[in-house]
Amino acid sequence: MNIQQALQQATTGLNKTSPSASIDAQVLLTFILDCNTAHLVAWPEKDLSADQESTYLHLIQQRQQGTPVAHLTGSREFWSLNFQVNDSTLIPRPETETLVEYILENFDHEKKIKLLDMGTGSGAIALSIASEKPDWKILGSDISKQAIQLADNNKIKQQTSNCIFIHSNWFNNISAIDFDIIVSNPPYIANDDPHLSQGDVRFEPKSALTSGDTGMDDIKHLCAHAKNHLKNNGWLIVEHGYNQKQLVADCFSNHDFTEIEQRQDLSGHTRMTAGKKL
Ligand SMILES: C[S@@+](CC[C@H](N)C(=O)[O-])C[C@H]1O[C@@H](n2cnc3c(N)ncnc32)[C@H](O)[C@@H]1O
Repeated sequence: MNIQQALQQATTGLNKTSPSASIDAQVLLTFILDCNTAHLVAWPEKDLSADQESTYLHLIQQRQQGTPVAHLTGSREFWSLNFQVNDSTLIPRPETETLVEYILENFDHEKKIKLLDMGTGSGAIALSIASEKPDWKILGSDISKQAIQLADNNKIKQQTSNCIFIHSNWFNNISAIDFDIIVSNPPYIANDDPHLSQGDVRFEPKSALTSGDTGMDDIKHLCAHAKNHLKNNGWLIVEHGYNQKQLVADCFSNHDFTEIEQRQDLSGHTRMTAGKKL
C-alpha cells in the first residue's frame, strides 16, 4: 500500500464517524511516517512498510471507534507549541488561545507579572505565556496529580524555566496573595449536557469538563476566592461556555470585579470574561 492508497482507504473508513476524516487520516499518517504533510503530497506513490501499514490501520480503527487523534499521537499543537497530552486532562483547544492572546495584548508592556493558571491541565496556557514572557513568574495548579505530571513533562519538553506547577484543589495550597493575573479554563459544562456523549469529550475526564447542574459551580468558586489572592488592580480571566456570557458577567459583578470585559473566540462566540479587582 502506498501513501495515496493509505490516505484514500483511511478517509473512506473514517467518513462515517469523524467530521474531519481526511485531516485525521493525514495527521495519523504523518505520525506513523514521522514526516510532515508536505511529504505526503510530494511522495504519494511511496510504499509503506508492512509494519507501518499495520500500525496505521490499527490507529484508523481506534479513531473509527472515537478515540481522539491527540490521544493516538500523544500530542496536540497549541500556540504553535507541541504539547504532550493524555487522558488525565483536557486536550488543549484552539478557543483557549483567546485567553493567551488577551493576556499578551493587555499586559504586553508589564515587565514583572506574577500569574496563576488554575486548572492548568497539560500546562497549555501557563507554558504558552511563559514562552512569550520569560521575565514573568508563572504558577500552574491542578487537582489532578497526573495532570501536574503531564504539565511538568511539557515544561521539560519546552525547556521553560519561569513556570512551576503544583497540586492544589483550587486555592487550598495557594498561599500567595499577590498575583497580578489569575487565569483559568475551568470545567464549565453542565452535568447533564448532551454534548458529553459526543466526539472527543467522551474520552476526556469528567473532572476536567463538568461543574454542577448549570456548569457554573467552579466559575462561582473562582470568582468568590480569587480576590483573596490578587493584588489590588489584579485581574481574573476565565474561559466559559458560549451560552454562559450573562451568567459569568453577573458572577463577576456580584463579586465586585470592575471593568468587566468579554471576548469572542474565532467562531464568534463569547467565551472569555475578564474583570479587575478594585
Ligand atoms: C477544562 S480543563 C483545562 C485544562 C487546561 N487549562 C486547558 O486549557 O487545556 C480543566 C482543568 O481543571 C482541573 N480541575 C478541576 N477541578 C479542579 C479543582 N477543584 N482544583 C483545581 N483544578 C481543577 C481539571 O483537572 C482540568 O485539568
